Amino acid sequence: MTVTANNMRLLDTTTPSPQDGPVARPGELGPLVEEIAEAGLRGRGGGWFPTARKLAAVAGASSRSRPPVVVVNAMEGEPLSAKDARLLAHAPRLVVEGALAAARTIGAHRVILAVPEGTPVPPGLDVEVREGPRRFLSGQETALVNWLNGGSAVPTSTVPYRKGVGGRATLVSNAETFAHLALIARYGARWFRSEGTAEAPGTTLISLSVGDGPPMVLEVPVGTPVSEILHAGGVSFPPDAVLFGGFGGAWLNGAHAWSLPLSPGPLAAAGAAMGAGIVAVPPPGRRGLDQTASIVEWMAAQGAHQCGPCTFGLPAVAADLRELADRPGTADARAALVRLRRRLGLLPGRGGCAHPDGVARLVGSALEVFGRELTR
Ligand SMILES: Cc1cc2nc3c(=O)[nH]c(=O)nc-3n(C[C@H](O)[C@H](O)[C@H](O)COP(=O)(O)O)c2cc1C
Ligand code: SF4
Repeated sequence: MTVTANNMRLLDTTTPSPQDGPVARPGELGPLVEEIAEAGLRGRGGGWFPTARKLAAVAGASSRSRPPVVVVNAMEGEPLSAKDARLLAHAPRLVVEGALAAARTIGAHRVILAVPEGTPVPPGLDVEVREGPRRFLSGQETALVNWLNGGSAVPTSTVPYRKGVGGRATLVSNAETFAHLALIARYGARWFRSEGTAEAPGTTLISLSVGDGPPMVLEVPVGTPVSEILHAGGVSFPPDAVLFGGFGGAWLNGAHAWSLPLSPGPLAAAGAAMGAGIVAVPPPGRRGLDQTASIVEWMAAQGAHQCGPCTFGLPAVAADLRELADRPGTADARAALVRLRRRLGLLPGRGGCAHPDGVARLVGSALEVFGRELTR
């Protein structure tokens, strides 16, 4: 198993053939859900949650008088991610085919494709296309639903699978998830499982950034060694550090990362996460703390400033990290480190969404991986 064109399933599929299947009545589930459960498809939007369980939850929360809604989340707010845009440019009909198959499975009559404003979308797609604001939080599912309902693209406390678009039970899944779903509907669970690992079958799209260059998009079987993925980006030796999961992800020491398979379980055990398939290697010579401080400054500005952790916590963490990065070894930096460690313990679980948790994880991993920079 290597990073080769042979593994391509999504990016090589340019002429999908829509498959019509039986339509479930709202409140019931169509037969495709069993195939999806057997395939072990897990969502590619960041959380790797089992898609069949989401379909069942949405179907269970809808009724004949209130059929559910399907939303394709192609908002891709993460700056290091390019996979959804690439997928939509390359195989938009495959994504739509998957969304329509999901809609038939849960009895949905309305399917919305949500893309960032200015995204070129081919005409004649059999779905409603909505263009949303290009912001980090726009793809968070409650923010997306709120915006589709006419509000701002900021997270809310509603649960989309119960009360989403127009108050209906709503399935929000990532664009790549729907593309895999389409191929499972066509070729079946066993075919899907012929790549990937038992815990996370199939291939996955990776946005790989090396240095300051734009991300390149690869399709690899889940479980591909990180070393092979980095090789494909021209990295021949373990780098100092690798960032997994993007701006809300985690740094790992490069030598450690080099030996890992890219799969949710092993990455979680190492303290990182697959997220939406982002792998990034910093430019040579760029100090990790400095780079992390820049990311956190950007993330603090992206917060919706509705809850304490976003309004006060993130800007304070950004300022402390900047102090550490710019003036390591000084008394001010030591005081900033003490404050930072305390604040990192306070952020997770306190916001209305997981935005502050992601920043806390990123900064915690940076302190570990770039610890030597603190005493420079
Ligand atoms: C801060 C934040 C930003 C997110 N941005 C996106 C995004 O741009 N695209 C996306 O598909 N999911 C994003 N998610 C995840 C969604 O909330 C949701 O879990 C996902 O669309 C579910 O799709 P899946 O089941 O196919 O993984 C984000 C989550 C958080 C906490
Ligand atoms: S934590 Fe931040 S982004 Fe999340 S809901 Fe609260 S203010 Fe909004």
